[in-house]
Amino acid sequence: MRCPAPPWHAAAACALLLVGIASAQPSPWKPLAKDGLHDPKGPAIGVLQEPAAALSLLPRDTAGNMVRWVQAIDSGAIAPRTHLRPGTEVRMRDDDLIISKFGSMPAVKFPHRQHTLWLDCSNCHDKLFKAQAGANVFSMTAILNGEQCGLCHGAVAFPLTECNRCHSVSNASLMRRREP
Ligand code: HEC
Ligand code: HEC
Ligand code: HEC
Repeated sequence: MRCPAPPWHAAAACALLLVGIASAQPSPWKPLAKDGLHDPKGPAIGVLQEPAAALSLLPRDTAGNMVRWVQAIDSGAIAPRTHLRPGTEVRMRDDDLIISKFGSMPAVKFPHRQHTLWLDCSNCHDKLFKAQAGANVFSMTAILNGEQCGLCHGAVAFPLTECNRCHSVSNASLMRRREP
């Protein structure tokens, strides 16, 4: 939007309008009373913390529930408990696997670390994915249907519209790596 040159009262009104637009930016998080899940007349409204009050303090995303959750852990903004029961073995893994190469899209990099920050191995192995590189047959159609990666992505993790967050490795860089 461009503000007009003088007369100045018009320019001033326009500047005020711009301030108005900026401050009227709706919050990306619905208030509990309007989320369609909580009873707006229930006693919990006013007692429960509003999502915006907690989530607006975390690293912002442009999609999904608008929080970069991996960044939230890495930056120390949140420090979720790894377990409740004593004696639980906390298992982490720190390798990346390239699971789709030389298609029409950049290759897919699956990072174990970012997943084991939140999940245990048994959430994925061996029912969902065999723990062996190249042993699984992936398909974007299945993923879009809520299977494989789509079991979580689009449901509890960043949505499938964020193509480049999975398709993050250029095929050209993989070609170069294969050359002797
Ligand atoms: C979010 C799901 C997920 C979680 C959680 C997960 N993995 Fe995996 N894992 C995968 C996927 C996907 C592959 C790649 C399989 C392929 O290439 O077909 C893989 C591959 C593997 C492989 C084969 C690697 C190779 O180089 O051959 C091993 C071993 C493995 N995982 C062990 C683990 C262990 C141990 C944990 C827990 C510390 C774990 N995974 C947690 C999804 C997961
Ligand atoms: C069992 C649930 C689950 C499955 C299955 C799963 N993911 Fe994830 N993934 C998560 C969670 C939870 C996060 C962290 C939260 C977020 O980034 O939204 C995550 C994060 C990621 C990230 C890192 C985002 C970042 O900010 O660093 C990538 C990349 C990713 N997943 C790709 C994949 C791919 C590719 C597959 C399938 C091979 C897959 N995921 C399967 C739950 C899952
Ligand atoms: C959560 C991770 C994830 C996201 C997000 C994602 N994909 Fe995929 N995609 C995959 C995986 C894993 C495969 C591997 C299937 C295979 O090996 O053929 C794949 C395969 C594909 C393929 C076929 C193989 C290729 O590279 O040509 C296409 C096309 C594709 N995706 C397009 C998209 C588009 C477009 C988007 C965004 C709208 C998207 N994908 C988002 C994980 C993802």
